[in-house]
Amino acid sequence: MSSLSIHTKYRMPSGYEIPALGYGVYQTPAAECAEVVGHALKNGYRHVDSAVAYRNEQPSAEGMKSSGISRDELFFTTKIPPKDMTYENSKQHIENTLKVTGFDYVDLYLLHSPYGGKENRIGAWKALVEGVEAGKIRSIGVSNYGVHHLDELEAYIKETDSSQGPQKGGVISINQVELHPWLARKDIVDWCKARGVLLEAYCPIVRATKNDDPLLAPLAKKYGKTPSQILIRWSLQMVNERAKIEVDQY
Ligand SMILES: NC(=O)c1ccc[n+]([C@@H]2O[C@H](COP(=O)([O-])OP(=O)(O)OC[C@H]3O[C@@H](n4cnc5c(N)ncnc54)[C@H](OP(=O)(O)O)[C@@H]3O)[C@@H](O)[C@H]2O)c1
Repeated sequence: MSSLSIHTKYRMPSGYEIPALGYGVYQTPAAECAEVVGHALKNGYRHVDSAVAYRNEQPSAEGMKSSGISRDELFFTTKIPPKDMTYENSKQHIENTLKVTGFDYVDLYLLHSPYGGKENRIGAWKALVEGVEAGKIRSIGVSNYGVHHLDELEAYIKETDSSQGPQKGGVISINQVELHPWLARKDIVDWCKARGVLLEAYCPIVRATKNDDPLLAPLAKKYGKTPSQILIRWSLQMVNERAKIEVDQY
């Protein structure tokens, strides 16, 4: 059995590390967000998954900064909102994220959803690539991208790399999608695995709606774990083994 802990990290195609377990703040009210992020960090998390659309980038960062943990041990993700998938709007969001968080850089900036049509999807991606070139973002990726969106982006990247030079089209480090045993997304997982793009599972515990499932409940009993623990282990073991590196520095 492979060893996994809250300290496990993966190496992304960008070259940077990402803590395997992230603390998501979707639907976390801004007024409570700094406090709950602080609790998550005290309990060993180092990775916070926010988004412009969640309206809690600022308190997420506040909770991270007031934890006393050094910035280089922390990992902050945010996302370009689906309704703002254009080059110009994305540029503005990157600037605004740095302003409201007070961070010098964002660890991972994702396109939240493949909205807006091809031109705008590519435009938003270009803004992320420029953010990396300017040192404002370390790694970039997408979310809710199906295979046809991934193909479209890969074609753009290949064309740009060959006409403008290596990495000018950007490097896809992550695709964040809903992923669990009832939505295993084999086509997307295979696409990403074949290229070394890491998968980030959202709704990994299916919002606790499957706890009494006739396959899951007996497994939880057999292993003496909660259904949520079994599901998180499924996510962790299923896809990204190849990129795992052991880091036990805290
Ligand atoms: N990129 C995207 O489009 C996207 C979409 C959705 C989510 N996400 C990310 O993924 C993260 C996780 O997704 P999610 O929160 O929607 O789904 P989830 O992780 O599957 O479910 C978490 C929810 O399950 C409930 N729950 C019930 N029993 C639980 C238990 N024993 N342990 C833990 N939670 C339990 C809690 O609800 P209560 O709080 O009501 O107790 C908790 O908020 C989000 O915070 C966000 O960062 C991304």
